[in-house]
Amino acid sequence: MTNIESLQQQILDASNMRHATKVFDDSKVIAEAQFTTILEAARLSPSSFGFEPYQLLVVQSPQKRELFRDFTWGANGAFNDTSGQLGTASHFVIFLAHTQVNMQHNSDYLQTFLKDVKQLPDDVIAFFNQAYQKFQEHDFKVTTDRQITDWCGKQAYIALANMMTTAALMGIDSCPIEGFEQDKTIAVLEEHFAIDPALYKPAVMAAFGYRVQDPPRGKTRRTMAQLVSWY
Ligand SMILES: Cc1cc2nc3c(=O)[nH]c(=O)nc-3n(C[C@H](O)[C@H](O)[C@H](O)COP(=O)(O)O)c2cc1C
Repeated sequence: MTNIESLQQQILDASNMRHATKVFDDSKVIAEAQFTTILEAARLSPSSFGFEPYQLLVVQSPQKRELFRDFTWGANGAFNDTSGQLGTASHFVIFLAHTQVNMQHNSDYLQTFLKDVKQLPDDVIAFFNQAYQKFQEHDFKVTTDRQITDWCGKQAYIALANMMTTAALMGIDSCPIEGFEQDKTIAVLEEHFAIDPALYKPAVMAAFGYRVQDPPRGKTRRTMAQLVSWY
């Protein structure tokens, strides 16, 4: 087998191995260096215009995780009579999407971001501002606070996917989580994490760790022909 064939096989094996893990082995902790690699996969992810319009909260305190239990039906184990991903995951991440305040074209935040993070000269920043304004107002019509926040959430999902794939390549299990009430999550984030809801909204969550057991059913997916059309 050539190197590339072996890599292809590793990717396929990891993709087949990855499943939305419902219960993790709470005695197993992901090694720090490996979780750092997972976070690097998020940090280095692509995002539209390169704006990285998201924040990650890694919630390791069991007490803090419990604050979400009542209304996080997709991770509280209610369906399988366990403490769920919230109670058993080695690492638990909440992805926040930026709102309109920071991600509206020409915002103060974006000016600082383009200057300090992207280190762009003023004329290129002016070009970015113009192009992004056109994108928001004309091309994609992303103009309301809700639309902008959802667009930022879309970017966060790319980081999420890269984190899960990276984890799977290292034999680490994961579960993406949208099973939560947004309003109550926003309230907990504001009260207990000092997250200003005017600036950030929860987009999605993810749990990482090691499965207790293999999933009862194998993968069910549409065929490649049902999924992909070639022209
Ligand atoms: C954005 C997103 C949100 C999800 N939310 C939950 C969730 O709250 N709880 C859960 O157990 N699984 C959740 N899932 C897992 C899906 O149900 C699962 O990925 C899908 O059924 C395919 O199964 P597989 O990932 O095991 O291959 C979510 C998946 C995605 C991509």
